[in-house]
Amino acid sequence: MCGIVGYVGPRDSQDILVSGLARLEYRGYDSAGIAVIDDGGSLAVRKRSGKLARLREALETDPIGRGTTGIGHTRWATHGGPTDQNAHPHLADDDRLAVIHNGIIENFASLRSELVGEGITFVSDTDTEVAAHLLARAYRESGDLVAAFRAVVDRLEGAFTLLAAHEDHPGLVVGARRNSPLVIGLGEGETFLGSDVAAFVEHTRRALAVGQDEIVAIRPGVVEVTDFAGNAVEPQPFEVSWDAAAADKGGWSSFMAKEVSEEPEAVANTVRGRIQDGEIRVPELEGLDDFFRGIDRVVVLACGTAYYSGLVGKYALEKWARIPVDVELAHEFRYREPIVSESTLVVSISQSGETMDTLMAVKEAARLGAKTLSICNTQGSTIPRESDAVVYTHAGPEVAVASTKAFVAQITALYLLALHVGRVRRSLPDEVSADATEQLAALPEKIQWILDNEQERTEQLAHWMADTRSVLFLGRHVGYPIALEGALKLKEISYIHAEGFAAGELKHGPIALIEPGQPVFVVVPSPRGSITMHQKVISNIEEIRARGARIIAIAEQGDSAVLPSADEVLRIPLASPLFEPLLAVVPLHIFAMGLATAKGLDVDQPRNLAKSVTVE
Ligand code: F6R
Repeated sequence: MCGIVGYVGPRDSQDILVSGLARLEYRGYDSAGIAVIDDGGSLAVRKRSGKLARLREALETDPIGRGTTGIGHTRWATHGGPTDQNAHPHLADDDRLAVIHNGIIENFASLRSELVGEGITFVSDTDTEVAAHLLARAYRESGDLVAAFRAVVDRLEGAFTLLAAHEDHPGLVVGARRNSPLVIGLGEGETFLGSDVAAFVEHTRRALAVGQDEIVAIRPGVVEVTDFAGNAVEPQPFEVSWDAAAADKGGWSSFMAKEVSEEPEAVANTVRGRIQDGEIRVPELEGLDDFFRGIDRVVVLACGTAYYSGLVGKYALEKWARIPVDVELAHEFRYREPIVSESTLVVSISQSGETMDTLMAVKEAARLGAKTLSICNTQGSTIPRESDAVVYTHAGPEVAVASTKAFVAQITALYLLALHVGRVRRSLPDEVSADATEQLAALPEKIQWILDNEQERTEQLAHWMADTRSVLFLGRHVGYPIALEGALKLKEISYIHAEGFAAGELKHGPIALIEPGQPVFVVVPSPRGSITMHQKVISNIEEIRARGARIIAIAEQGDSAVLPSADEVLRIPLASPLFEPLLAVVPLHIFAMGLATAKGLDVDQPRNLAKSVTVE
């Protein structure tokens, strides 16, 4: 939440900051602002509530002179509504110091009282302004911006990435991070800071990860990093594996449309290099092989869509690796004295690698002695760095707030994990392993088939249903988490009431929701798998149909048993039961996107949300 960008170098910083913010806008889009030290040595600030377009307009009508040092921010409001006044940067030291912030300063109220007591007047409702005034006070004592950060960071409780620029120091931006993300970009004679690499990837792919509780000072082509105590730190270098074009819309109507179209590629890239001689081998996991032999339990931690991918992964891990698996919402795990031991594997799943709830749960699991493995899509992010091992999903940058291609990549990575651990623990018969490996390799083509053959019809259906007020989703076994995902996606971008249920749960209460005309999506398991499960879902369909529900079935090609029971059937190609979720979810992503589009909504930036949830 909140996007942060900083620049020092020979070029005019304004365009660099604004284009960095455009790439970070998915992190928050309530308001945006920049501060630039212009070539005359004055600090100039422009900030506006609303989307970045409003800031661009402000810069056109009231331009800032050329300046090569600057910071920029795109906001997801926490303290104080999305107004011009609350937009960042915040100013202090007679408007000569500009500060931007991502996170929440939890003790801001007491700090604010202290500062008010000293006669400082606040002009915003934000927690950030407290940090600006504390930095200004510390700076006045030493005249050294880095020393000022060192003096202030320990007074702040909560989560923060803070960046500051001071009129006295053109060519310098200083930042600090605790529990919020920050990465450095290294250009030729120029240096960047960003909440993530998207902030600067169009200028450089060479990056450095800033660790927890570190202060960084950037000058043109120069980087100095210390810990909060002032000891020098060697930041970890990495090369960004994708280029700016991968994060562009590239002719698609929305990022979400582009990202759904990339679902086949996301699966293919996540599998790539991890099948050797027909067997799954994940080199990143090999260091844990001895540990895998002695595991007694797996706990999966994640939020939202990533949590649903974990629910799907549970079926595979239990079936192939024969280990009991609990899947938990990360924010619930942390606060209930969880029981984990040194033989527990804790698997976190996060597209962004920055979700605060997940990060805190991982830290708690590590503190309790568990081994931590991260499944993550974002290089240089915090959760992988806080974990003992990481398996990256290679879905490429996901910009739309609603997660789509990352979801299928997460399930793929969990299957790779389950197959790898199953092989190591010798719980996986060779023929099952061979079949699963083949199924994984064939998935991209099958997903592509859905996009080529069912997308138009699904969009048409969404269009007809644009006035629908409520949609229910049912699934059984691995189809159940897919029902949950279908419902989440629809509410998130269409603002329609939607709920997902386990089909078997219906008669324990939710069936009371069914009234004539109620649309219900049903994920139908293959009749070639467990025939009983197929029949049971058909019976569930009949039960709700008898009460007037309108059924949209997602069923495999050739399943004719659904035809008499369903009003619409969306087809998916044949796959083994465990692989069906990776296919059944595709029409649900298309449907949610189609319905939001039909309602004229912004599918990439739904209201009240942000892509990377870096506050608890
Ligand atoms: C829904 C969605 C969210 C995220 C959740 C976790 O479409 O995108 O539910 O899945 O906020 O985010 P990550 O995966 O970044 O930890």
